Amino acid sequence: MYRTNTCGELSLKNVGETVVLSGWVQKSRDLGGMTFVDLRDRYGITQLAFNLETQAELCLRARKLGREYVLQATGIVKERESKNLQIATGEIEIIVEAFSILNEAKVPPFTIEDQTDGGEDLRMKYRYLDIRRNPVRNNLLLRHQVAKQTRTYLDNQNFVEVETPVLIKSTPEGARDFVVPSRMNQGQFYALPQSPQTFKQLLMVGGIDRYYQIVKCFRDEDLRADRQPEFTQIDCEMSFVEQEDVLNMFEGLVKHLFATVKNLDIPQVPRMNYADAMKFYGSDKPDTRFEMKFVELKSSENDLVSGKGFKVFDEAELVVGICASNAAVFTRKQLDELTDFVKRPQIGASGLVYARVNEDGTIKSSVDKFFDEAALSNWANAFSAKPGDLLLILAGPADKTRKALNELRLEMGSRLGLRDASVYSCLWVTDFPLLEFNEEEGRYFAMHHPFTAPKPEDINLLTEGRLGEIRANAYDLVINGVEVGGGSVRIFNKQLQAKMFEVLGFTPEEAQAQFGFLMNAFEYGAPPHAGIAFGFDRLCSLFGGDSSIRDYIAFPKNNSGRDVMIDAPSMIDVKQLTELGILVKSV
Ligand code: AMO
Repeated sequence: MYRTNTCGELSLKNVGETVVLSGWVQKSRDLGGMTFVDLRDRYGITQLAFNLETQAELCLRARKLGREYVLQATGIVKERESKNLQIATGEIEIIVEAFSILNEAKVPPFTIEDQTDGGEDLRMKYRYLDIRRNPVRNNLLLRHQVAKQTRTYLDNQNFVEVETPVLIKSTPEGARDFVVPSRMNQGQFYALPQSPQTFKQLLMVGGIDRYYQIVKCFRDEDLRADRQPEFTQIDCEMSFVEQEDVLNMFEGLVKHLFATVKNLDIPQVPRMNYADAMKFYGSDKPDTRFEMKFVELKSSENDLVSGKGFKVFDEAELVVGICASNAAVFTRKQLDELTDFVKRPQIGASGLVYARVNEDGTIKSSVDKFFDEAALSNWANAFSAKPGDLLLILAGPADKTRKALNELRLEMGSRLGLRDASVYSCLWVTDFPLLEFNEEEGRYFAMHHPFTAPKPEDINLLTEGRLGEIRANAYDLVINGVEVGGGSVRIFNKQLQAKMFEVLGFTPEEAQAQFGFLMNAFEYGAPPHAGIAFGFDRLCSLFGGDSSIRDYIAFPKNNSGRDVMIDAPSMIDVKQLTELGILVKSV
């Protein structure tokens, strides 16, 4: 028997017991006559004690133990003289009577501690050592909890977990596919699924009624902190439902997860339509942990700023700003930093106008030359600004300016400490546009995916060709400004689906070749259906209070899409390539 107990469970009530523990050497200390070894496993750390006087041979052997050696130790539990109340086993130690080295270990390339000296690359190369550290291991345990509670909730709601294939067909919409060559069908390729979208719809045609799957998805897109080329979704679909049913069902899931994993009671999730999200936050995923809504000083609807000789405002399509409460104390230096921030190429604003509302109610702005006290006081009214507030205003083309102000709003939120990772604000964003125009390609693309249904009241816009105005029954779940999930009510009628492909620029033949299987299925009694998919990694990282999903994935890819531990992707040999029919012999 390797162990009678784990390294995390012994306490004063075990004093006097003989126990066997196995684990890794966290560290050892020689204090004159005593040697102490901290033995670690998944469950905790227990102190092993060796007395030089009474067990000279054991103690001398213990002194030679290196970090991360794997040990098995037998001994008696004893109350410690100097207790460490920081750890669960800190009141006891084991007086070791015998131990054996189960495995030696090289000196690890970084310290296996909560705060490690290992950089990202090193940690990824030796990920198995990184996983021994508490923060990474705890994230994996959290991930397990989220998966388990997801299954519990959905199982209670009669959802069935069905696996869908991983070798599927490449489709032109969406992100880029990862493709897999076929040996048996040379010159042909499978694609890895970007999501099981069409399969879950076919399961609805198959009468499964309620489906879910915690499933790997693959997208060949550029990486960011919250994006991995292979990631996991909680993918769900329901039959005979409307948008309202889906929102209620999955609000229930979110509440259940917060309650069981975070011990938090989440209030009813508010809803905001896409148009309002863009107008008031310049983003379809607003961080609603704080207010700071956009106020328009000049738009197609109003104009409080033109005609005073300030060209930037006179010529702007949109003049819009935010009011940061109690931020009038920002120094000139801080305001210069904010100006530099919005002028960065990624943000692209041409400049920043600011106005401080002084304690006596007077207002001092960076454009006092053009705007007198009365004009500035109009601004303050528009923002409902109080003494001590700071107005930050951008001007320019409408879409670009809203996007830039969204970034500035988030930056201000961070600077003012309004984005606490332990505070959660959930939001449903609804009524997304069905289509968005892509200037480069000169055509419309589905904003969610081509299987999303237009709102019934907007279907006539489809026939009238007013494509940009059509709204979809599509919805996203946003938590703290992160798009955690997205879904839609689906088209379940062959003619409407065919029309949708036509609008997206497919010829009927192309549509048939790519998606014939789905349209054919719609001819055999497809039920009305709708669904959603959650980004499982994102959900876990939010629960863990992190913005990066990488440490919630056991073996993630780095920024260049590489697994540096196994060194993938890698070359394959000529024989393999030839078998696959990829390497054509030159003649
Ligand atoms: P969508 O493309 O919005 O919808 O994806 C659903 C959710 O998956 C997460 N996500 C990602 N997470 C990590 N890395 C990525 N590269 C990545 N891409 C997406 C996001 C996102 O909200 N089939 C539809 C869902 C449906 O309509 O039911 C779909 O895949 O959190």
